[in-house]
Amino acid sequence: MSELRYDNQVVVITGAGAGLGRAYALFFASRGAKVVVNDLGGSGKGEGNDTKPADAVVSEIRSAGGVAVADHHSVTSGDLIIETAIKNFGRIDVLINNAGILRDVSFRNMAQRDWDLIMEVHVKGAYKCTRAAWPYFRKQKYGRVINTSSASGLFGNFGQTNYAAAKFALVGFTETVALEGKKYNIQANVLAPGAGSRLTATVMTPEVLAAMSPVYVVPLVAVLVHSSNTETGSIFEAAAGTFSKIRWERSKGALFRPDDSFTAGAVVRMWEEIGDFEKEKPEHPSGSADMIAKLEEAKKAPRGDGDKTLDFRGKVV
Ligand code: NAI
Repeated sequence: MSELRYDNQVVVITGAGAGLGRAYALFFASRGAKVVVNDLGGSGKGEGNDTKPADAVVSEIRSAGGVAVADHHSVTSGDLIIETAIKNFGRIDVLINNAGILRDVSFRNMAQRDWDLIMEVHVKGAYKCTRAAWPYFRKQKYGRVINTSSASGLFGNFGQTNYAAAKFALVGFTETVALEGKKYNIQANVLAPGAGSRLTATVMTPEVLAAMSPVYVVPLVAVLVHSSNTETGSIFEAAAGTFSKIRWERSKGALFRPDDSFTAGAVVRMWEEIGDFEKEKPEHPSGSADMIAKLEEAKKAPRGDGDKTLDFRGKVV
């Protein structure tokens, strides 16, 4: 089988001066793409800026014979980053929204700036870059987007209310741009990566850091943004060479007739059924349409027990 190539394509990677972004940049340049290496070059907490990280990656690519240009804007000025791609290469084919920072703190002690800066970089940053690339994608009927989420966003993580909220926002954002982009061959997927980088260096042992090189995440991204890909609106996890897909699971649940017997007591009585994923086969919903179909079924459901039922504490409800 021949290798995946990206010749004549322009790939914009945000936060490509280090970690995962740098690994993507080196890969796509080595496979024929012209790469915009964006990086603000600030601290892991989002303070300051520096042109060196992006410039160093561009030099690395050029010395290996590749084509790349540096961009030092913050992702919050995503329009300027896309402008760099258009000015230098005349097009954009792939956008990898990867730039990220952390401002971990318990929810109790979170300052307004901790919340705002995380939302700015992760959510507004991905929005601004995607919004600026969108007219080009639509016009050429081709576009590939990766938005970088996190296990924290999918499952929550202590000390990361700001980061988890931002990373989960990117899931809804991606699912929706995937729907709106389908007709124009614009595909968007979510990646929840795991890799040793400055963001994870303090929480990983040296052995784990070594086993989780960013290069082990690259192949999944390579497939998802390739012209042959058909997957869109999906969520993937990638770390240390393990790739998997995440999907929603809904319990079969309980149906209540929408009349006066549909009470809190009726809900308590059916609590186990509502949360059951074992006895009855769960569903894997991909939209709200199937929920609406249940309205007819509910009309035929047995009456609830109304106020004859007990609540969790044994009180009549
Ligand atoms: P990293 O710190 O090595 O790289 C992130 C890069 O983004 C840095 O070079 C930084 O200068 C740049 N950046 C930060 N704010 C920026 C801004 N406003 N504009 C432009 N560039 C900016 O971190 P890593 O680990 O490579 O992270 C990449 C992405 O993956 C981030 O979105 C992160 O949240 C996400 N992620 C990483 C995980 C991991 O295990 N490393 C786990 C889950 C998610």
